[in-house]
Amino acid sequence: MGSKLSGRGAVITGAGSGIGLAAAHLFVAEGSAVAVLDRDPIRVKEAVEQLQAAGGRAMGAAVDISSPDQVQAGVADVVAEFGKIDVLFNNAGADAFGSVVTSSLEDWDRCFSVNARGTFLVSQAVIPHMTDDGCAIVNTASICGLVGVPNYSAYSASKGAVIALTRAMAIDFAPQGIRVNVICPGAVYTPMLEPLMEARGKGDRSAGVAATINKHPLGRLGTPEEIARVALFLACDDSSFMTGTVVTADGGVTAQ
Ligand SMILES: NC(=O)c1ccc[n+]([C@@H]2O[C@H](COP(=O)([O-])OP(=O)(O)OC[C@H]3O[C@@H](n4cnc5c(N)ncnc54)[C@H](O)[C@@H]3O)[C@@H](O)[C@H]2O)c1
Repeated sequence: MGSKLSGRGAVITGAGSGIGLAAAHLFVAEGSAVAVLDRDPIRVKEAVEQLQAAGGRAMGAAVDISSPDQVQAGVADVVAEFGKIDVLFNNAGADAFGSVVTSSLEDWDRCFSVNARGTFLVSQAVIPHMTDDGCAIVNTASICGLVGVPNYSAYSASKGAVIALTRAMAIDFAPQGIRVNVICPGAVYTPMLEPLMEARGKGDRSAGVAATINKHPLGRLGTPEEIARVALFLACDDSSFMTGTVVTADGGVTAQ
């Protein structure tokens, strides 16, 4: 147990799985109360039970972050329980495969409604409750927002929007002392990655994993815990002079 987030209240979207769940465990271990916001109510319940079993203060709300009403209601529940919010990890995301020719309009709209609109809506609901010193927002983009990745057009464009939104938010809220940074992960083995591995391996998931590892100079995929540690760094005072920064955690993909 550490104390990097001692006494803070954090909201983590998409905390029912993968990177968000790993961050929820790390944040409670560092002394934060954590609100799990995820559209999947079963994942919300299980995550909250796990966090409480680990001795953490945790609550949950089943929220689709693309729905303004659900976001407002979920954040109101968090404020009623925690009294304030110090940290927001905008982590929930959606992806879709395809070029601009092979993607559907639904793919485009889904990526933008979760990744860009969802980040906008949750930030809009949370920021008025960030009244203490040392508040921080950590957004989640992807290396797809920085470099071209084949057949990821809608996802890449929506993650590019998250990077631009991060810089805009950093400037707008710096006078209030709210820092806003964005993480761009490389490939991290979570449930979200599995369909991509299948597609990349043309039905053979392990071939897809091998091809993806090949693109990472460190010679492996990332783990949810590694991205969670970057989120912790950006959420706590260790990064107190950083705002508007794009942090890649990609095993060297974008260094090539
Ligand atoms: N896994 C990777 O390789 C990778 C790489 C780069 C960026 N990312 C980004 O990291 C973030 C987390 O991804 P992950 O790999 O942990 O995925 P994951 O699938 O393990 O978890 C995502 C969680 O978000 C929830 N979610 C999805 N849409 C939602 C919505 N509209 N409202 C609320 N919750 C919603 C899901 O229910 C799920 O619990 C995403 O933004 C993703 O784009 C992941």
